[in-house]
Amino acid sequence: MNVSVVGSGYVGTTIAACFADLGHDVRAIDVDEEVVATLNQGEAPIYEPGLEDLLEAQAGDRLQATTDYAAVRETDLTFLALPTPTDAEGRIDLSVMESGAERLGEALAAKEGEHLVVVKSTVIPGTTGEVIGPILEAGSGTDLGEDIEIAMNPEFLREGTAVPDFLNSQKIVFGTRREDQDGEASGEVGPTHEDRSDRGWALDRLHEVYEPLLASGQTPVVETGLREAEMIKYANNAFLASKVSLINELGNICKVYSVDAYEVADAIGLDDRIGAKFLRSGVGWGGSCFLKDVAALIAAARDRGYEPELLEAAAGVNDRQPERLLELLDEHVECENERIAVLGLAFKPDTDDVRNSRAIEVIEGLQTRGAQVVAYDPVATDSMREHFPDIEYVDSAASALEGASGAVVVTDWDEFEALDAEFDAMGSPVVVDGRRVIARREGLVYEGLTW
Ligand code: UDX
Repeated sequence: MNVSVVGSGYVGTTIAACFADLGHDVRAIDVDEEVVATLNQGEAPIYEPGLEDLLEAQAGDRLQATTDYAAVRETDLTFLALPTPTDAEGRIDLSVMESGAERLGEALAAKEGEHLVVVKSTVIPGTTGEVIGPILEAGSGTDLGEDIEIAMNPEFLREGTAVPDFLNSQKIVFGTRREDQDGEASGEVGPTHEDRSDRGWALDRLHEVYEPLLASGQTPVVETGLREAEMIKYANNAFLASKVSLINELGNICKVYSVDAYEVADAIGLDDRIGAKFLRSGVGWGGSCFLKDVAALIAAARDRGYEPELLEAAAGVNDRQPERLLELLDEHVECENERIAVLGLAFKPDTDDVRNSRAIEVIEGLQTRGAQVVAYDPVATDSMREHFPDIEYVDSAASALEGASGAVVVTDWDEFEALDAEFDAMGSPVVVDGRRVIARREGLVYEGLTW
């Protein structure tokens, strides 16, 4: 198929490269000329394992990047993968999506034949049908259900494993218009029929573009309405974020009762109603999605008069974990004017992304205490420099520990597991481990955050 992807961020670049790898001809469209040039050189504008290999193989061949929206006219469907950031009140900010949809609609005005627009970005229920749809209709001069149709196809990929996550999806969700909820849908868009000829061309086209991933019959496809598809993404992230906050809350209780939260988690994870994954307690969750999506869902619930207490508590527990880590450090080190090592800056391993990383709160807390912060991360130093230009950055964990009065571990990079003799370069070695990666031993004052 001919596929276009508007937006070349984490999600857009990954899906553009993966769809090209699956055999489609892909146009990646982005307003940023530098990003477009990078992609056309076969390089990744972001750090993501495996992505550069795909881009190198496909750029100039099945993948071409451009700043020109007219490229969508050569394609059968367009994925909208533009950012949906949070505004000052935590609400979703749709301005980038709206202007992208406007330009897309205008470009489609001159297209012959059917075109499907698929919202990939995370958006509040109702957005695809009631905001993006009408903008496309206005721009293209075509009513939905005629030559233009919309769909919602949320993305569940994780940073660091985005490529294998996409190629081995645990589920694929197709949301299409239903007559009862998204305005005057034209006839046969209900996704209930097994028979392809009956399910409408929007759903047919979605099946077709994902065909290489569906051929094995192993990947469940969820066919649902637009609003349900939109909500599934929020529910997925809210559930995972709350799961970590719950194990963190239980972990905090474990700690005050001298109980090892990891032993508890291993046991409760054996209950398949709970599941063993996402039970690693520690300094909390960061990244581009969890904080933004939980905040947007809270704001959206309040807008409709519902107070989502559990989600607010999940966000509250997460906000407090960095300070709990520092309070444990306070028990051993008077931080003022002391050199304190921060090990790990990325919000999780295998990424250079520091968005909402707990390291930001940890560094702020250390600065409030008057500490001299010395930070190390294998790949995220440059990104963190934008937040904290004035702290000291070093190029190894050993250098960070040298002469430090205390150390905190914020990211579970594998290389920290090997740290041992390096702690002896500290005055009197003290480490507070926020991710359970450091081996305990004689001569090292060790505090685990929840164990
Ligand atoms: C997440 C979702 O997993 C993904 O489906 C969605 O599309 C985007 O948001 P991502 O932000 O890349 O993906 O990271 P993820 O691996 O889910 O980790 C999120 C945060 O939770 C990290 O800061 C991680 O350290 C933390 N976490 C995760 C824990 O603290 N404990 C755990 O047990 C698991």
